[in-house]
Order: sequence, then structure tokens, then C-alpha cells
Amino acid sequence: MKAIAKAHTNIALIKYWGKRNEQLFLPMNNSISITLDRFYTTTSVSFQEDLSSDRFLLDGEEVGGKERQKISSFLDLIRNTANKQYFAVIDSVNQVPTAAGFASSASGFAALAAAATKAIGLDLDDTGLSRLARQGSGSACRSIYGGFVEWNKGERADGVDSFATQILDENGWNVSVLSIMVEAKQKKVLSREGMRRTVETSPFYSGWLESLETDLVGTREAIQRRDFEQLGMILEHNALKMHATTLGANPPFLYWTNATVEVMQRVQELREVGVEAYFTIDAGPNVKVICQLKDEQKVKEGLQSLNCVQDIFLCHPGPGISYLTT
Ligand code: PMV
Repeated sequence: MKAIAKAHTNIALIKYWGKRNEQLFLPMNNSISITLDRFYTTTSVSFQEDLSSDRFLLDGEEVGGKERQKISSFLDLIRNTANKQYFAVIDSVNQVPTAAGFASSASGFAALAAAATKAIGLDLDDTGLSRLARQGSGSACRSIYGGFVEWNKGERADGVDSFATQILDENGWNVSVLSIMVEAKQKKVLSREGMRRTVETSPFYSGWLESLETDLVGTREAIQRRDFEQLGMILEHNALKMHATTLGANPPFLYWTNATVEVMQRVQELREVGVEAYFTIDAGPNVKVICQLKDEQKVKEGLQSLNCVQDIFLCHPGPGISYLTT
């Protein structure tokens, strides 16, 4: 009862920010992302009759405590559905700088959902996998698919209609995404806590929600038409709006550092000299810069010259989940 799956991370162009149900990971709004080729998690799950608890290995190291508990609770969903109460050895290897706003939880839970359901003998389609992965980490439901992906928030209270679908596959539009590493440290306010605090206390949160539909419509249209300028303008505005909601939270918080701002300003300077590039930022200090293939070297050079930039990872749209053989 063993299976291995691989899932790639994704970067949101329209952010998932805020839950309407924390238990079921039901979001307040739809979100749109690009799955990235460069960062992924490979996870093997092996259910065994003789185990008395789950064992979780991350990058070769045994993990206990809360992290393991999170994995075990997620596996419980699968065990209960399959009606098989075996514990498992979970061996996960990340090709992602963990927890620095590089969304390893997305690839992690997508790979875990795929490997664990296969290992236990559940035959889920992509919709079922997306719905399940969502309950490990919201953004994971988008990593089931490659390319451009939308997570439909759904309307129902039980979450059955809250899952992702593909807008365009990874060969549909080859844009460049530069992952700009300015800090490798773990983030201070985890996305779960950040969302909760923002939804509960930020007076700007209602503005975020009200302006979302326009962003979604414009983004879908930009993707369909391959209109890079329209896509870029919306995604940058959307990221800034998300971060503005955190400044209005009580107590307020900010994911950016000086380096984050330096990168943002350099991107704007690049645009002033005619290089079309746009930035987005998740729940951490690192920045993702999106540009067209023809400009990726120019953008890379423009950012490399900043002292605060530690590393640049050049990414492109990547595939959805896949299964590996032992
Ligand atoms: O699913 P989580 O808990 O990793 O939250 C993701 C939140 C953002 O990265 C900020 C936005 C997004 O849509 O990925």
C-alpha cells in the first residue's frame, strides 16, 4: 500500500485571502494562480498494518509535534473515507525553500493528497483530489493542475463545490516568473493567522472583497487573450490590495522587509524604461516577478544588481500532479 506523487507549487495572481470556514478551508473569494515548473514536492506514502502511529519525514528528517499532527489529521480524512485505519510512513522531499512565502504547503498537501489516496486504494479524479488537498492547505487545491488555474470558492456550507479547475494548461502561455529570494527565514505571521486576523479586524477587508470580481473577470480575460499588460496591471494591484488589508488589521502586521520594497521599486523602474515586469508577494518577504519570455534576462539582470537579492530562481508554468513508480 505505497504510492509516490509529485506536485508543483503555485503562485497566486489573484490571492486567496480569508476563510469563511476554517475547519473546511472554505475561502471568502476565488483565486487564480500559475503552477511553477521549478519548485515541487515529491511524497511517498506507505500504509502499514504494523505501525502504531504515523511517521513523517521531511527532507530526510523525522518531524514530530504540530507538523506531524497536521499531516495525521489530513490522513484521517482519507482513512475515514477509505474505511481503513492503517498508519503510514510519509516521506516528503521539498524542492522549495520551505515557509518563506514560497508556498511549500501547496505542493506538499497536493502531493500528499495524491500519494495517500492512491496508496490506500481510493480512486479520486482531479476534482476530488483538489477538494481534498484544499483541506490540508487552501492553495494546495490549485496545485493539482498545471498552468493557469482558478479555485472556485463555491457557495455551499459543506465545501463540495469548492475546488480548482484549469484555465489554460502549462503549454498554453509561456510567461516567466522570477522568484526573488531576499530572505530565507520562516515567516512570522503564518497565513492562517494572518487571514483570520485580517478578516476579523481589518476595515479594509470589505474593500478587498468588493473589488475582487473586477480583478477576476479582467484576469480570466487577460489569460484567454494572452494580454500580458492587462494581466500584469491586475496582478500587481491585487497583491498590493491584499497586503494593504494586513496594515488595517488589529494588531497590524506587514510581511514586507526593506528588501521587499527595494525589489518592488526596481520592478517599477524597469517598467519606466520599457521592460514590462510586474510583482506579486505572498505571506512572506520574498517577491515573484512576472514578465514575458523575451524580457526574462533583462529583468534578471535588473534585479541581480540589488544587494538585497540573495537568489533568483527562474520559473515557467509547470505541470499538475504526477505519480512516480518505486
Ligand atoms: O493556502 P495557504 O495557507 O498557503 O495560504 C495562501 C495564501 C497566499 O499565499 C497569501 C495567497 C494564495 O492565494 O496563495
